[in-house]
Amino acid sequence: MIKPLRGMKDLTFDDAQRFVHIVTTAIKVAKRYGYGYIETPILEETALFKRSVGDSSDIVSKEMYQFEDKGGNDVCMRPEGTAGVVRAFISAKLDRQPVKQKFYYYGPMFRYERPQKGRLREFHQFGCESFGEASVYEDFTIITMVSQILKELGIGFDLQINSLGCPECMPPYRNNLVGFLTEIKEKLCEDCNRRIGTNPIRVLDCKNETCQSLLEHSPKLINHLCDDCDRDFKKLTALLDDAGITYTVDTNLVRGLDYYNKTAFEFVSNEIGSQSAIAGGGRYDKLVEYLDGKPTPAVGFAIGIERIMELVQMPETKREGYYMGAMVPEAIEKIIMLAGKKRETDKVTVEYNPKGFKSHMKGVDKAHARYAVLIGEDELAQGTVWIKDLESREEKTIPLTSFL
Ligand code: HAM
Repeated sequence: MIKPLRGMKDLTFDDAQRFVHIVTTAIKVAKRYGYGYIETPILEETALFKRSVGDSSDIVSKEMYQFEDKGGNDVCMRPEGTAGVVRAFISAKLDRQPVKQKFYYYGPMFRYERPQKGRLREFHQFGCESFGEASVYEDFTIITMVSQILKELGIGFDLQINSLGCPECMPPYRNNLVGFLTEIKEKLCEDCNRRIGTNPIRVLDCKNETCQSLLEHSPKLINHLCDDCDRDFKKLTALLDDAGITYTVDTNLVRGLDYYNKTAFEFVSNEIGSQSAIAGGGRYDKLVEYLDGKPTPAVGFAIGIERIMELVQMPETKREGYYMGAMVPEAIEKIIMLAGKKRETDKVTVEYNPKGFKSHMKGVDKAHARYAVLIGEDELAQGTVWIKDLESREEKTIPLTSFL
């Protein structure tokens, strides 16, 4: 029997319902914030991710589903959504228009990671990207939007925030950090040693406990921000305080993608094990320019749908629509015709097999239908249907003509 690939799974039954509930709730909130839908290809040129997510990031250096297609092109299954949306934004020349653009998307992402609970090789994200707004108010608004989505899904969270500075304050800090790391080099893990040369900021994110305790005394960017970044970060925390959104400042939060500057954030849950990040995002003011577009400030986030599926409270569903069945074989076609008409306006479940009353009523419960509609011998002879409202428990026999 052919099974799904390791780290990939089918979404069926309850999972599929959870998925749809999460996406529809997120879309509802995103629309309230002025976001419109965007769809971009799953397959892109590998160069797109190398240049945006970053050559030295784990995602690009270890986890890409990368291959040569039949035309000899170096292509890659998208590991995340932002790069494709930025490419589409530039391809459509939206970077040359003065209007601000806001997009939402959802769909599969692919990372060749070691599968474990909460970590898949194919997973789904819901994301939003806002272009053209440099104000820190937009960072605050984006964070508010994620909290609102989680709130509407009934999910508790911890919010962690940090500032990654800008091209003015980050380079001197990076030099400072490299100096510190070089001094403690021997005690750091192999990965960290490699990163000192390739991407020193990512050392701060190392999960190794020894490294983490050594990093407690590392220089913190938050104490070396330029005036502009410092003012924005203080404004962001003040706005979050005013809005009653609790957060912690995590000076080691650097995110696994290289395109961020200024605000970076992560929403985590302590109820789903070690893969606890349920959403992440931040500002990426240089990415449009870096991918050959006109300089355009931008900020966004993505939610990990499978991780949210573990936590979501499904709302109680009410009985809905009709269940229709025949109690004698001669009535089946009448039922099928009636169902076709009723489906122009309502949800209908039809049972093709003639059955006894009790058996049909079990079907009504299974379909979670509000109304049971049955035709037996008498109803067929008299041109009527028997109908019961399962909420009010009221039942009656009415002419076929008044049923429709
Ligand atoms: P990210 O933090 O890499 O950010 O991913 C966002 C979310 O996707 C994570 O918080 C997590 O819930 C989920 N996720 C990531 N990897 C996996 C996996 N292997 N299995 C299951 N879930 C996973 C981004 O992708 C950025 N593009 C977010 C963004 C949008 N930043 C700005 N705009």
